[in-house]
Amino acid sequence: MGTRFLPATKTVPKELLPVVDTPGIELAAGEAADSGASRLLIVTTAGKDGVVSHFIKDLALESHLAAKGKHTLLEKVRKSSSLIDVEAVIQNRPLGLGHAVGCAEQSLGDDEDAIAVLLPDDLVQPSGILQTMSQVRAEHGGTVLCAVDVPKSQVSSYGVFHVEEVPGVSQPDVMKVLGMVEKPQLADAPSTLAAAGRYILDRQIFDALRRIEPGAGGELQLTDAIALLIKQGHPVHVVVHRGTRHDLGNPGGYLRAAVDTALNGDEYGPALRKWLIKRLELGDNA
Ligand code: G1P
Repeated sequence: MGTRFLPATKTVPKELLPVVDTPGIELAAGEAADSGASRLLIVTTAGKDGVVSHFIKDLALESHLAAKGKHTLLEKVRKSSSLIDVEAVIQNRPLGLGHAVGCAEQSLGDDEDAIAVLLPDDLVQPSGILQTMSQVRAEHGGTVLCAVDVPKSQVSSYGVFHVEEVPGVSQPDVMKVLGMVEKPQLADAPSTLAAAGRYILDRQIFDALRRIEPGAGGELQLTDAIALLIKQGHPVHVVVHRGTRHDLGNPGGYLRAAVDTALNGDEYGPALRKWLIKRLELGDNA
């Protein structure tokens, strides 16, 4: 619902807020496409039509840009409609992440035996973690999740993993998951490895989602369905992501993501770097 971003999200869905010039939802769609996905289901609420419209071709805008010779902008505008096939699934009530994921089941084909879930609030870079996770599923089967190592003070904001090392595993940073707990107090946290908003879920997750009760925050938690699968002996592994991860869901994390992304690019990076150095020096002397 974007409450941490009010008042901006009074009328603009937070998924459309730009990281430099590209909405967060397009970054997630690009990551899904790069990982080999051919279609994207956006689980959303009624009244956020702009999120799906962003992926529809805008012929009038494209011909205007073409006529003006604005080819770089034209390429940027065309990108979202050519990335991946997008469909929307409406979640009628905000009952939690587990409920949102469950809404996708109705749109799956009989031959689709796993889904990747990307939470667009999490910007995980460099992209490529989903390919690594797919390789782990090919090797071990089951369900594969992405973990980041977070400071102890932050464990209560995440789903946290209880893990053990896998002897002789071919990829570094791959561990077996023995349990998972949503938003634990530090004293109850099994580790500092936290779920980072990228999941490859075996289709069995939908049965588990039907069997869970509301958990942390009174919501139907994806974490609880995964914990149930683990108890039943379903193989679950994590890949520990060693790159960066930004939380686009709050203004502080979003700002870091924007600065980081701009600094990594040629268009705004060099000038921003110069300005930041000057700005911070002035700040230190103030
Ligand atoms: C959700 C998940 C949590 C995960 C987090 C990652 O929580 O429930 O397990 O660690 O995303 O961002 P939320 O941030 O939606 O409360």
